[in-house]
Amino acid sequence: MRFLNLFRTTAFRLALVYLLLFAASAFALIAFIYWNTAGFMAAQTDETINAEILGLQEQYGQSGLPGLRQIIIERSSGGGSGLYILASSDFTRLAGNLSSWPDVPVADGDWVYFTYDRTSFGETERRSARARHFVLRGGFHLLVGRDVHERREIEGRIESALFWSAVITVGLGLIGGLAMSRNVTRRLDVINRTSRDIMGGDLARRMPLSGADDEFDELSDNLNGMLDQIERLMGGMTEVADNIAHDLRTPLNRLRSRLEVTLMKPATEQEYREALEGAITEADGLIATFNSLLLIARAETGEARENFEPLDLRVVVNDVAELYEPLAEAKRMTLKVAAPRPAEINGDRGLISQALANLIDNAIKYTPEGGAVTVSLKVAGEEAVLEVRDTGLGIPEAERDHVLRRFVRLEASRNEPGSGLGLSMVAAVGRLHDAEFSLGDAKPGLVATLRFKLKD
Ligand SMILES: Nc1ncnc2c1ncn2[C@@H]1O[C@H](COP(=O)(O)OP(=O)(O)OP(=O)(O)O)[C@@H](O)[C@H]1O
Ligand SMILES: [Mg+2]
Repeated sequence: MRFLNLFRTTAFRLALVYLLLFAASAFALIAFIYWNTAGFMAAQTDETINAEILGLQEQYGQSGLPGLRQIIIERSSGGGSGLYILASSDFTRLAGNLSSWPDVPVADGDWVYFTYDRTSFGETERRSARARHFVLRGGFHLLVGRDVHERREIEGRIESALFWSAVITVGLGLIGGLAMSRNVTRRLDVINRTSRDIMGGDLARRMPLSGADDEFDELSDNLNGMLDQIERLMGGMTEVADNIAHDLRTPLNRLRSRLEVTLMKPATEQEYREALEGAITEADGLIATFNSLLLIARAETGEARENFEPLDLRVVVNDVAELYEPLAEAKRMTLKVAAPRPAEINGDRGLISQALANLIDNAIKYTPEGGAVTVSLKVAGEEAVLEVRDTGLGIPEAERDHVLRRFVRLEASRNEPGSGLGLSMVAAVGRLHDAEFSLGDAKPGLVATLRFKLKD
């Protein structure tokens, strides 16, 4: 069954097509050479015979039967390859080097192949000959021919060589095709089997490499790369789902117990009011978290690229900073904007505004009272560099990658409200715009930098 399957593989079919084309062209070439050579040799024999007949007929015309007989006797004893027989009307031999009229049906002018016995050095041999028959005036029969034994033998050998070479070519081709398709099938089998295992749930399995560094290894390598990528994405999704479950449960529980406690004992209207206000604050927090998550998801799918439009970053910077002025004032902080020149880029205005808002919000939130926040926009070469600098605690170098993950909040800032999604969103917006996002040390404080490519 498995053996039969091999015949259905693409590799075997390709090998077979190639084999047939190759065999057909080789066969055609040899056959062409053969028919040409054999035809040429046969034509030469016939021509010689015809010439001889012409001569003999002339002789007969000039000197009659005795003259013809004489010349046939002469030629017969000449030792050449010519064959002659002159016979009376009842086919009785009169002269020639054939012992009797050959046993072939003939009519005047016919070409015939026949066999005759030749005796040389005491041994008799059956040989092939080709001849032409003529009826002479007076009813005499003349047969003039040539021994073509060697020629016929060579032809026979070439014919059998042709036959056998065809058999061998096809046989070897079949074996080669089978071996080739078996090899290909075996390699594909491994890939198929591994894929089935992976589909069956063994997600850590990878395609084995043969080490031959061929196209199958390349295919396996690419499949492995794809599987790794899928695993990473799945891991990321599981992490997000875990984070969401974990980080949303706390505020939801808090909300629930707050309401429950209020209901447990009779309360004044003022107390109910306070409890409801607390619940609303908690719900607002939850809504904000959901909105952040949705924004991050939107930035990460890349779908938002469809909304990209040319925009001036200077306008965005001024608008957002203005919104945060009251907050800075309340904390007795200075919020300075340094954006002297316009900077045109292609991007999503809403997402960039939200990202900048997150950075300014952090800067104000994590800087003690009386500090300073500076938002600056510079054009450097092909880039628009947007910076938010504060004089707060800063983020230790070792934590700078870590804080970009969802829901991560540093120990030092636990007593400030927040869900730990602000910087994740900035990072996602940066990736969406092919902008480089980095956190640095402002000595003291944090400097967050976004480098956008200017619109060309
Ligand atoms: N300017 C900053 N100075 C010092 N620490 C910072 C600053 N910005 C961020 N951090 C630290 O990084 C953590 C993550 O910041 P992120 O903006 O992602 O979340 P958050 O501010 O805690 O919450 P959210 O922004 O979602 O309201 C913060 O909790 C804080 O510990
Ligand atoms: Mg924040």
